[in-house]
Amino acid sequence: MKILLTGGTGYIGSHTAVELIERGYEIEILDNLFNSKITVLDDIEKITGVKPKFHKVDLLDVLAMEKVFEEGKFDLVIHFAGLKAVGESVEKPLKYYENNVGGTINLLKCMKKYGVNKIVFSSSATVYGDQGVAELTEDMQTGVGITNPYGETKHVIEEILKDVAEADQKFEATILRYFNPVGAHKSGLIGEDPNDIPNNLMPIIMKVSTGEIKELSVYGDDYDTPDGTGMRDYIHVVDLARGHVAAIEKMKPGVSIYNLGTGKATSVLEMVAAFEKASGGKKLTYKIVGRRAGDLPKIFANPTKAKKELEWETELTIEDAMDDTINYLKHYTEKK
Ligand code: WQD
Repeated sequence: MKILLTGGTGYIGSHTAVELIERGYEIEILDNLFNSKITVLDDIEKITGVKPKFHKVDLLDVLAMEKVFEEGKFDLVIHFAGLKAVGESVEKPLKYYENNVGGTINLLKCMKKYGVNKIVFSSSATVYGDQGVAELTEDMQTGVGITNPYGETKHVIEEILKDVAEADQKFEATILRYFNPVGAHKSGLIGEDPNDIPNNLMPIIMKVSTGEIKELSVYGDDYDTPDGTGMRDYIHVVDLARGHVAAIEKMKPGVSIYNLGTGKATSVLEMVAAFEKASGGKKLTYKIVGRRAGDLPKIFANPTKAKKELEWETELTIEDAMDDTINYLKHYTEKK
């Protein structure tokens, strides 16, 4: 099976590339390098011995994308490419709808034109909006109470995939709803290395630990949780990557939807404590500030469906993620 990874030099894409290559899959990567670096290809080669064929192409450049498909003869696409800064999406909604939704429509039209009928889509727990409960299952109604255009684009793309599958019996789509990816490959060669100002907890903790950011602002400690801080389902990025391998090996007609999470929730202060422990007790500077608009108290996956149908479940822990993050930081600062 030959697979095209859009956004494959990104955080989750690069880890998935490694897992696929190590299992003997032939892959190519298409990325516009907006939020990733081309040097990731060398790191993938150092880990696997294989340097994937790379296409510096933007999903809005239809002609360039068609050329990749004409030559590539792909069997399946894993679609990671997309803008994902929640805050920025509120300021620049058209940029997010054009890039994420418009880009995906271009991709789907290109797949149809070149007879590629299988797609795995990188979606997000954000499509659940506010369900009023913490534990999320795939049968819940989505698209209600989503608080940002980024999340809306993920929801709209899910609906597009469902409609395309309705219209074309040959079409197979697997939607993977990620919870909160953290950690890095155990080699320390690849990890989360955003070009932009990070919004997510872990890249901010990383930048506080290196001194690039002065201190972590903890967004509220007055939630109805054991220590008052927000709780999320943090999944090791290598477990998440392995979830994609499981998904491509179990493709079936129509649309299949899976939560990729651990099934457990961890608080902000527990994440801080875990990072400090992995850092040999080195304290992380933080301050408690007001809640962030749109944040929910507690969210975590019910991962039962993926376990049953994909025969996949997480194996790595928060401690593994912290150790691997610190190991990545060591390599990262040496490279700089
Ligand atoms: C996690 C927790 C914050 C930063 C978002 C997107 C979701 C997905 C994952 C892409 C919360 C707290 C954070 C900080 C903090 N992205 N926090 N200080 O909001 O759960 O989900 O990222 O798919 O779609 O919505 O992740 O990492 O921003 O926040 O206290 O500086 O950390 O309040 O409790 P979130 P996050």
